[in-house]
Amino acid sequence: MADRSHRAGSSRRPMVLVLHGPNLNLLGEREPDVYGNLSLAEIDRRIAARAEALGLGVRSVQSNLEGELVTEIQQARTWAAAVVINPAGYSHTSVAIRDAVAAVSIPVVEVHLSNPLAREDFRHADLVGGVARGVVSGFGWKGYVLALQAVADFLSDGEAAASSGSDGRSAEDGQT
Ligand code: DQA
Repeated sequence: MADRSHRAGSSRRPMVLVLHGPNLNLLGEREPDVYGNLSLAEIDRRIAARAEALGLGVRSVQSNLEGELVTEIQQARTWAAAVVINPAGYSHTSVAIRDAVAAVSIPVVEVHLSNPLAREDFRHADLVGGVARGVVSGFGWKGYVLALQAVADFLSDGEAAASSGSDGRSAEDGQT
């Protein structure tokens, strides 16, 4: 697992874990017509800059391994206010990552660079997205910025301990 060591801000800022799933380490060379020309390092730099501007701290991690992604999500509940995750191919297959997202009470926002609904049928199932707080798809690397903006908004609205979940539960519903 690669801790990409982009940590913006002081410990007083709400921290966000940005989790990149399998094959996203190849961004820039991998199917650029689908995923764009930016490397993951460059995307992480832009994420860190945006996080800083929003008053958030960020830790970016990439892993090709399902279990490592599960462990990162579990550990995030002890130090992060929210998770932004692109589970990549695991979005469509991983009950374990879905269960980890459902298990933690911090909000989780899913990001896809492409729009999986406009692609092959096997990408239309999104197990992880079904338990995420929300999903941003189809806007390339800017999807991460949109997700961070959403995180900043709902943290400032006091939703820090809101449950992830497709039923739209929030702290205001008293279900944390
Ligand atoms: C992806 C979409 C997935 O279907 C694919 O397996 C990926 C990347 C995206 O960001 O568009 O690896 O999550």
